[in-house]
Amino acid sequence: MSRHYHHDIVIIGAGAAGLTLALELANHHRVAMLTKADIREGSTLYAQGGVAAVLSDKDTIDSHINDTIDAGVELGDRDAIRFTVEHSKECIDWLIDQGVPFTRYGESEEYHLTQEGGHSHRRIIHSADATGLAISKTLIKNATNHPNIDFFPNRVAIDVVTTKKLGLDGPNKAVGVYALNLDDDVIEVFQGRFISLACGGSSKVYLYTSNPDTASGDGIAMAWRAGCRIGNMEFNQFHPTCLYDAKAKTFLISEAVRGEGGKLLLPDGTRFMGKFDKREELAPRDIVARAIDHEMKRLGIHHVLLDISHKEPEFIKEHFPTIYKRCLEYGHDMTQGPIPVVPAAHYTCGGVVVDRHSATDVKNLYAIGETAYTGLHGANRLASNSLLECIVFARSAAHHIAEHPPQIDTITVPDWDESQVTDSDEDVVIAHNWQELRRFMWDYVGIVRTDKRLLRAKHRVDLLLSEIDEFYANYKISNDLLELRNLAMVANLIIRSAMSRKESRGLHYTLDYPEKQASSSPTILTPTLTEK
Ligand code: FAD
Ligand code: SIN
Repeated sequence: MSRHYHHDIVIIGAGAAGLTLALELANHHRVAMLTKADIREGSTLYAQGGVAAVLSDKDTIDSHINDTIDAGVELGDRDAIRFTVEHSKECIDWLIDQGVPFTRYGESEEYHLTQEGGHSHRRIIHSADATGLAISKTLIKNATNHPNIDFFPNRVAIDVVTTKKLGLDGPNKAVGVYALNLDDDVIEVFQGRFISLACGGSSKVYLYTSNPDTASGDGIAMAWRAGCRIGNMEFNQFHPTCLYDAKAKTFLISEAVRGEGGKLLLPDGTRFMGKFDKREELAPRDIVARAIDHEMKRLGIHHVLLDISHKEPEFIKEHFPTIYKRCLEYGHDMTQGPIPVVPAAHYTCGGVVVDRHSATDVKNLYAIGETAYTGLHGANRLASNSLLECIVFARSAAHHIAEHPPQIDTITVPDWDESQVTDSDEDVVIAHNWQELRRFMWDYVGIVRTDKRLLRAKHRVDLLLSEIDEFYANYKISNDLLELRNLAMVANLIIRSAMSRKESRGLHYTLDYPEKQASSSPTILTPTLTEK
């Protein structure tokens, strides 16, 4: 027998997006917040550089819009871009009102604005080099103190329950969520008049990633199974500079290091970015990551170098205290010399197709943050536009939801049915498939693609999906199985989207079609009945 919980809104995920939505609604709605691990764990916690916004007199809305369009290689939705940028300042004010301690400087105590690739102005407001930690800590403190917000950590949402899945007539409507409680392995039912997916991205589909373990694409996969369209999945961003050190796994070295003067070098000390783009180290990320990948392959080297040691040690320690300390722990002193860096999967530009209110194709189902495809990023995300998108679109969803008067629940979501499944005696299959999936995604669907590589990946993912389906139908579920199922589904969406794009644009680069087409549109996939 499942435990049942009833709230006005069920939010899956407590990153910047989910927390903003919860805090904006909690005065008038009862909110349930599910997180698959500890409450704080998610990409937001690790965000470094900051939040992009038009805050300086020298900057303009049009300039931020143009930089976003350029970074996204003209594939971004201009209305979504304008909407986001026009709301940027009020979102920063909202974060400041919440108590986020952004870095100030000088006697006037003005907020310090840093610089990142693709931005033509200093417009990144930040908390030293640990902006995500400051945002996460502040919003979690406010949310945990709010009497109308109930947190449910260690709950892995399995699927959104819709009226269609329940066999009910009328337009497809979200009514609840099934979630696995990791503490006692019981599957619980969370009912809500509104459901919001705020699950972060899916970069864990790649072997090397800057993201935490939560980034397994669960929100995108759940939305697809619920009947939502998914957009632009071929555009997975690779961050150019993660620390290359076996012990560090993939620790990010913020783009702000290059923004404040860091230079990329080959092992012999020569700079190389000038060969690839006139903006050199401050070109948009897709260009820098591809340049590094090119040089690594050309020279057969495992990493390149990032050097900011020409700056005063005090400057480095003051601007990058977290990065300085972490590098030192691994034996790299960035005040004294260059550090080894490599690209790694960092951000999912595509996701669940939503409108300006973050509403999906399924009634009462919203998607916000990295899970969503709002049209902002186009073929490549401009640095620090993600946290901004989280706040802008979560607030927009909140306003939309608040306009709907609460109604009485009329549907009861049935218990999860486990009567047909047994305990698995072959968990090795999950571990094996997990490794294989992430490896072939890295090798065949990474920074540089070809038709042949994509076809190889497609054959493999089709086979994995059928094995996983069989496993899912016959054995009790576990977190590993759920993640594998979602990652395989997301991998399939990435591969299909990449195969359909016959050009190179932004983050999608293929040797078979190296040029960009004169005009292009987003890739939108619609689930068929058998895929839901
Ligand atoms: P997240 O913060 O990733 O939160 C996801 C939440 O969903 C978590 O609570 C997780 O537990 C939950 N969840 C997921 N699946 C389930 C499930 N099945 N059931 C229950 N809960 C689930 N962007 C910027 O704009 N500026 C930066 O400086 C910046 N730096 C970054 C540095 C790093 C190292 C990384 C990894 C990313 C960075 N980004 C940055 C990107 C940005 O941090 C993320 O895009 C953003 O934080 C995503 O927020 P979110 O709320 O969508 O999801
Ligand atoms: C960074 O600090 O380089 C990350 C910024 C981002 O992902 O937007």
